[in-house]
Amino acid sequence: MKNKKIVAFLSAALLVTTMFIGCGTKAAPTSGTAAPAASKKIVIGFAQIGAESGWRDAETNSVKDIPIKNKDIELKFSDGQQKQENQIKAIRSFIAQKVDVIALAPVVESGWDTVLKEAKDAKIPVVLMDRTIKVADQSLFTTFIGSDFPLEGKNAAKFLTDKYGKTGKVNIVELQGTVGSSAQVDRMAGFKEGIKDFPGLKIIKSQTGDFTRAKGKEVMEAFLKSDGKNIQVLYAHNDDMAMGAIQAIEEYGLKPGKDITIVSIDGIKDAFTAMSQGKTNCIVECNPLLGPQLAQVARDLAAGKTVDKWVKSSEGVFAGAAEATKALPSRKY
Ligand code: AHR
Repeated sequence: MKNKKIVAFLSAALLVTTMFIGCGTKAAPTSGTAAPAASKKIVIGFAQIGAESGWRDAETNSVKDIPIKNKDIELKFSDGQQKQENQIKAIRSFIAQKVDVIALAPVVESGWDTVLKEAKDAKIPVVLMDRTIKVADQSLFTTFIGSDFPLEGKNAAKFLTDKYGKTGKVNIVELQGTVGSSAQVDRMAGFKEGIKDFPGLKIIKSQTGDFTRAKGKEVMEAFLKSDGKNIQVLYAHNDDMAMGAIQAIEEYGLKPGKDITIVSIDGIKDAFTAMSQGKTNCIVECNPLLGPQLAQVARDLAAGKTVDKWVKSSEGVFAGAAEATKALPSRKY
């Protein structure tokens, strides 16, 4: 009797245990409901020019912010150190890595046809950042995100034609950007166009300062050495060169912004500070904060949407100490 009870108890225990094991198996099915796969990120490869100016650093930071602010986007970054050959290598490496979008800030206008054809053959859209290029086939790039450089040159000229009008003789020296870049070519052409009906305004010297502060100072020193007190105006293709030139003018014993009127392009904080102190006279803004537009374009392209051939930046013109002082607190670069 006692043995029968033990057997009955063990059988019941076995049944209960089997039921629980069965329930456990049922509760955790091993097939049919796999966890959703992580969605694929959009990969942008950015071939940047280098770090020649405060403006360029601001653009780099804006693009590097993309993956921080957009969790669906990954960024591969390359610094071309001012060399087209480095940028071409970077593009080829992005093609090999099968990125989704190639963003290129081209150091110069020409020489891109072959490598962009390779990108096109690999079906990778190319987005031009801040500078344009000259290619026979316009389909080699999908869109250009950036400013109207000829208009910037014209706006710089307008400040001077408004100030000096058609009377008197005004000698201008010009600090040009990197030779062969669209920023240099177009800012020079726009400016010339803007002063063409004002015969008193004359460019007496023009040389590249490569968009850098150090070169701007060096070239301005040479201008002052040869033409000294004959210079009434400095037109610089970017603020950094103007900042270098201000130093040269002060060391020469003249007052920048007073003895020599200065107009430059970009809108970096240093230029606004100098203008608030009366050391420069006019800043034509060029927006480097292009990261958000690039992120949007990359997303649109990934979604199969058509994007405009030119995603234009909107920007202003600032003149005088009062305007600079007012604008300074809200300057973002
Ligand atoms: O292409 C834009 C120009 O490049 C900026 O004006 C200049 O500062 C930069 O280096």
